[in-house]
Order: sequence, then structure tokens, then C-alpha cells
Amino acid sequence: MSDDKAFSGKLTAWHRRHGRHDLPWQGTNDPYRIWLSEIMLQQTQVAAVIPYYRRFLEHYPTLTELAAAPVEEVMGLWSGLGYYARARNLHRCAQVVMDRHAGAFPQNPDVIAQLPGIGRSTANAIAAFCFGARAAILDGNVKRVLCRTHGIEGYPGVPAVEKILWSLAESLLPRRDSATYIQALMDLGATVCTRGKPRCLAEEKNCPVVDQCVARKQGRIAELPVARPRKILPQRETRVLLLLDGDKVLLERRPPSGIWGGLLSLPELPVGADPLAYAARTLGCEVTRFMTLPPLHHSFTHFHLTLLPLSGAAKLLPHTAEAAGHCWLGSVEIGAAALPAPIRKILSAAFQAGSAR
Ligand code: ADE
Repeated sequence: MSDDKAFSGKLTAWHRRHGRHDLPWQGTNDPYRIWLSEIMLQQTQVAAVIPYYRRFLEHYPTLTELAAAPVEEVMGLWSGLGYYARARNLHRCAQVVMDRHAGAFPQNPDVIAQLPGIGRSTANAIAAFCFGARAAILDGNVKRVLCRTHGIEGYPGVPAVEKILWSLAESLLPRRDSATYIQALMDLGATVCTRGKPRCLAEEKNCPVVDQCVARKQGRIAELPVARPRKILPQRETRVLLLLDGDKVLLERRPPSGIWGGLLSLPELPVGADPLAYAARTLGCEVTRFMTLPPLHHSFTHFHLTLLPLSGAAKLLPHTAEAAGHCWLGSVEIGAAALPAPIRKILSAAFQAGSAR
């Protein structure tokens, strides 16, 4: 037996014993009821959906009544369930089915997917549950299960990874009774292969594909599926001056607010300033030339910073008082001073280079 066939067979057998069989939208193939449940379940867990589902059906026993209801009333009944675009689309969808499909839900998954608020996975679930279509689903739970069982790399929210997952989901579909298989996948994701602490070996519901699960074999259950990549942060850079006079270095106190507020740091060169002129006029130091040191990267919560250090031997100009907020410290004093970690790194490297010379 092929691995794919074994996979769906094991899931279907597992579902018979351990799947959910008494949810209020099961035991029917009425497209109105199944569509309503699938929309409510899109971003909400079963337990939260059940009372809303019952209430909706009491108010609107058929699609005709939902389509005829005022949208405000529908929104009111939805209130508390969240993601309100779903309620607006639900109402519009009911009207489209009335107007363009003579009140009968379309059966072809591609046609269902054209309706408001229905994506490919929801359309396929409706077509499978109502009309026995052999159609794959790929909601959040199923993505998690497949990423783990088949060791799919990459964040499943990006199109390239989603494409791989869709073709995997389709290749795993059994020839017969794919509706039970997709319900099994959903149930496994919701009750066993959960996001945190999956119950792979729970005595009661033991995962049926634990032996072939790539994430489990590789000890990577916590790493798969790959988490959403962090937001791309802006990149800034700034030049800092490492002015050395013997074993002393010139430090500058940072303004009380902003990054490194109140700490001592290396003097920061304003954008576009000439370092020699700035050293002379603002810092009171004569420097003949600057040397570029290796850049240093540091990440804050809101941006990445690249520090570009310029080092130079400084001679204090006569009659220049130490600029306000500046001080010369030796290596011992620096050891006890409050300095940002990346600045301390630059200084350590400079002192090491100095003592090695
Ligand atoms: N989540 C989405 N569709 C579902 C269904 N039919 N049963 C249980 N959970 C679901």
C-alpha cells in the first residue's frame, strides 16, 4: 500500500473511534447548514460556535429567510463571534445564492468559491460534505498537521509553501469517502495535533500517523509549522567616533529619552557631517585622520541599527573645555560605566587592539 493510501486509511479508521460525531452540523447534507457552520468555524473554535449556530438557525431556518433579513439584524446576531466581515459576507452570499442561483447552493467547488466570504478550502469542504465531491481542504489546522507529518518547511502563509501544501493535500485524498477523511484531518488538528503540546501519544486518542510523522521523528514538533516571520524592521545606520588619547576614550552622555537614554556612548556624528571638522569644532579634538572600523549590527524592537565606528588618535586642542556631556575615561573606569552593550563591544575591541600593538 502506498504511503498516501496508508495515511488516509489510518486517519479514517482513527476518525471512526476518536473523531467528533455529534456536532450540530453533522448528520445533515443541507448546504445551508453546512455552509453556515463552515463560515462560523473559519476563525473560531467549535465550542464558541455551537450556541451561535443554534441561534442563527432558530432565527433563520433557511437560506431564504437569512437572505431576506436586514443586515443589521444579522450583524447583531453575530455580535460576540468576531471577524464581522464574515457576517456581512454571509448575508451577501445568501442574497447572491437567491438571486443568481435560484436559491439553490451551487455544487461545483469552483463555483462555490466565487461566492462572497468563501475561499478555496471552505468551498471544498462544503462541496465534500454536501455533495460528496472529492476535494481537498487546507485550513489552519490541516496546514499544521501536514507540515508536521510531511516535514514541510517554510511559513505556510506564503504562496510558495501554500502551493506545496495544496498539492500534498490533494495527493493524499483517498478515492472513496474523502468527506470522512477531511473531517478526520480537521478533528486530528483540533484535538490531537494541536499547536502547543500535541497529544501524539495520548492513551485515549493516540495520533494514527505518529510512526510516519516527520516532525516527530526529527524531534521538531515545536518547530513545525514554521512560525510567521517577524515583521521586517527598518534599517538605520549611524557613524560614531572612537577618539583615543593614550588609553583614554571620549564618551558622550545620551539624551535622557530615546535609545540608550541617559547612558554613556560614543559621540554620534550628525548625518552628513565631516568627522575631522566635527571633532575639532564640537568635541575640541585635533585628529589627523580617521580609520574605519568594522561595522556592528544591533537590533532594537522597532529597528535594526548599524554602527559605523571611525577611530582616530585625538589631541586636545588648547583652551577647549570638555564639551558639555562629554568625558574622557580610561579602560578601568569604562569597566564600571553604564554603557550600551554594542558600544562596550567596540571599546573592548579597540582596547584589545591597543594592548596587542
Ligand atoms: N472546522 C472547520 N470545519 C469544521 C468542521 N466541519 N468540523 C469541525 N471543525 C471544523
